[in-house]
Amino acid sequence: MELPYAEPYRMKTVEEIHLSTREQREEWIKQANYNLFNLKSCQVFIDLLTDSGTGSMSDKQWAAIMTGDESYAGSHSFHQLRQMVEKLTGFPYLLPTHQGRAAENVLFSTLIKEGNIIPGNSHFDTTKGHIEFRKAHAIDCTIDEAFEIENLHPFKGNIDLTKLEQVYQEYGASKIPFCLITITCNSSGGQPVSLQNIKAVKKLSDQYKIPVIFDAARFAENAYFIKTREEGYHHKDIKEIVKEIFSYGDGMTMSSKKDGLVNIGGFIALRNLEVYHKASNFTIIYEGYITYGGMAGRDMAALAQGLDEATEYSYLKARIKQIEYLGALLNQYNIPYQKPIGGHAIFVDALQFLPKVPREEFPAQTLGIELYLEAGIRGVEIGTILADRDPITRENRYPKLELLRLAVPRRTYTNNHMQYIAAALYNVYERRNNLTKGYRIKYESEILRHFTVELAKL
Ligand code: F0G
Repeated sequence: MELPYAEPYRMKTVEEIHLSTREQREEWIKQANYNLFNLKSCQVFIDLLTDSGTGSMSDKQWAAIMTGDESYAGSHSFHQLRQMVEKLTGFPYLLPTHQGRAAENVLFSTLIKEGNIIPGNSHFDTTKGHIEFRKAHAIDCTIDEAFEIENLHPFKGNIDLTKLEQVYQEYGASKIPFCLITITCNSSGGQPVSLQNIKAVKKLSDQYKIPVIFDAARFAENAYFIKTREEGYHHKDIKEIVKEIFSYGDGMTMSSKKDGLVNIGGFIALRNLEVYHKASNFTIIYEGYITYGGMAGRDMAALAQGLDEATEYSYLKARIKQIEYLGALLNQYNIPYQKPIGGHAIFVDALQFLPKVPREEFPAQTLGIELYLEAGIRGVEIGTILADRDPITRENRYPKLELLRLAVPRRTYTNNHMQYIAAALYNVYERRNNLTKGYRIKYESEILRHFTVELAKL
């Protein structure tokens, strides 16, 4: 018999979580103004709000914490991290930041001017926020297949080269400081980008003299998909694939809270010394001195170790197989979600799941609340609330997909938890025909409204 996969680690510390009653959850979600971000974590049983900073560290990472060097300048932990990043990516220049959006803030302050255009694949919301905050524009060039839920294209994060070239022709290098490739592409379902596509984007960008920057939050998961889905890479080591990915870029921003396997941190890594010098000034103003940039020495030490572990095939296999396991359970119940399985989450298709809830009443948010009421599970809306209003017309932007993301933290939950999640979704699916009404907005902020929005039940 072929042996099934099993996690290449065992548990050494556990953390208690508590199941509540439906009555308690009804009260709590009301008090939270129907915004799942406003819940206290103790009011949640299984927390799938995000895979960002919510994973478990290994014993080696905890050991690294004890060896962290807290020197203000020239910390040994910084050099450890710089060496690891260069070994994995080939980028020699490193600027630590306190998390991914801080890396965006520093790098975009360096590179983006008012009126600029940043083409890419479904920019993440903070990324788009940092672009629009500078009165620049993000143009989404993701392939159309990404928006077809049932389409089994293996690399739905890919950039459409025709769309990209049109943007390049229209605006040119003077208006486009860089093209941004997000790996994996979170907003389109944790979908990967193929190496063939990365190579082609680089070639096209070179023709137009436009640099390529990676938003690399989930680069290791992307490399796993290249290894398992792309021809010619099956026999390659994850670290080799990672090195090849970054060889086609000029730099990267990183949220270390994902594939860095740590709870906080980020960085910028660059090939160009001049850009590094300019970005260093912004690092000092916004984050801290260039050898810590908002991170404790101990956190840099844990990150160096985490990056090494995250780029091991055995770890990645267990990670992605767990998401596949959850997906297979949902298949049994015919629950509609973005296929094929992405790297870090299941993205449930709320438009199909709750067809009777009108779009302007936020079906994905409605589904998120129902799942919480059903079982104490917290997901996150990736839909109209997240998409914000158009900065000029102030109308709601209706994205092509209305999704409930169930993000699975790394090395944290067991497959029993996955069974629990699938059963809860099944129960909500069974009563979907009774769910016809959603929510209206009582309060919202100008950008990134989903974090603080307050809703009322219709
Ligand atoms: N880029 C991507 C692709 C992300 O998914 C995130 C964060 C960031 C940048 C920003 O990084 O949080 O460290 O400042 N994503 C989290 C999520 C918040 O839940 O998907 P950060």
